[in-house]
Amino acid sequence: MKQNVIAIDGPAGSGKSTVAEKVAEILGFVYIDTGAMYRAVTARVLDGGFALTDLNHIAELAKRVRVRFSREQGSVHVWAEGVDVTEEIRNPEVTAAVAQVSQVPAVREAMIRLQREMAAEGAVVLDGRDIGTVVLPDACAKIFLTASVAERAQRRWLEMKEKGYELDLTALQQEMEKRDRQDSERELSPLILAEDAVLLDTTGVMISAVVDRVVNIYRERCNNA
Ligand code: C5P
Repeated sequence: MKQNVIAIDGPAGSGKSTVAEKVAEILGFVYIDTGAMYRAVTARVLDGGFALTDLNHIAELAKRVRVRFSREQGSVHVWAEGVDVTEEIRNPEVTAAVAQVSQVPAVREAMIRLQREMAAEGAVVLDGRDIGTVVLPDACAKIFLTASVAERAQRRWLEMKEKGYELDLTALQQEMEKRDRQDSERELSPLILAEDAVLLDTTGVMISAVVDRVVNIYRERCNNA
């Protein structure tokens, strides 16, 4: 059992990153946003003009790219191949393509290796789709966050609006459902509930209550792990 490792998985918009970031802050842990890593590879695939079906080039890129995080003036930046892709990885084009890129075996292999390296020291919170099942199956605290698709779409819509994107809510919800399906039905590392994960439905629940619950789960499960 790996002490000091919290794995948070769940579908898009379930509140993973907000919760993971706050939990990491409270415990003094490092937060690793693994979705940002798949998004960073996807941004470089799109920048390179590669088709999403061009598996050879995508695999080559995944092998050489080193995704890294830096903290500048309190905010986290994401880098890939020396390019700051922090803004780009949240744009609708990357969001629409990421589930396809993240299914490529070489991409998963490279990202999982990097994630394990980053988590090796412990005192980390990772969020994603396969953290508790594949990346760190011996994490002492595993959480699976979910919420109704309507609420998840609404949250994402508001988040994008704050970033200056006026998206159509119905289309956004449909796209989210499609991405969830791709993530849940893929062969490698599908989004599934780990046997020993705690399932938390965040529909209508305040973020601060979810954060408290996750910190308590960590304290109950990890302190004597
Ligand atoms: O968490 P976020 O929505 O930013 O993740 C973007 C995409 O990255 C997911 O839809 C999924 O396709 C992929 N992903 C993954 N495995 C992870 C994290 C994200 O396949 N551990």
